[in-house]
Amino acid sequence: MDDLYRDFILEHYKRPRNFGELEPHDLEAHEYNPLCGDEIGVQIKVADGKIADLRFNGHGCAISQAAASIATEELIGMDVEEAAKLDADWMLALLGIDISATRRKCALLLLKALRHAITGDGSWPVGATD
Ligand code: FES
Repeated sequence: MDDLYRDFILEHYKRPRNFGELEPHDLEAHEYNPLCGDEIGVQIKVADGKIADLRFNGHGCAISQAAASIATEELIGMDVEEAAKLDADWMLALLGIDISATRRKCALLLLKALRHAITGDGSWPVGATD
């Protein structure tokens, strides 16, 4: 992994943005990665059809936690319906590194929880692989 991107990922892993609980919230969901048992929960406050605020919590590998932290910075302010349709390409582009097929679900765990919270559908985002 390129040093610059590794530092970017590690920095988010060590100091995750928007981590914790959000009270009150309008939507929430909790998901886990069946491959490893790592977990991410998300709580969302909605206003005027947009994500007004959001927090995530849980535990997992550096990729899952850093991806969640990085994603939350983009998600706050986004249209809720648009956020529910985000796919693997969106997340991987934000991460900016090559993620092997076996680690893809690490990177997509936050999106899975987000989509579950918004739509009730806890399936993996488009582009996830086994
Ligand atoms: Fe569990 Fe990455 S190893 S989410």
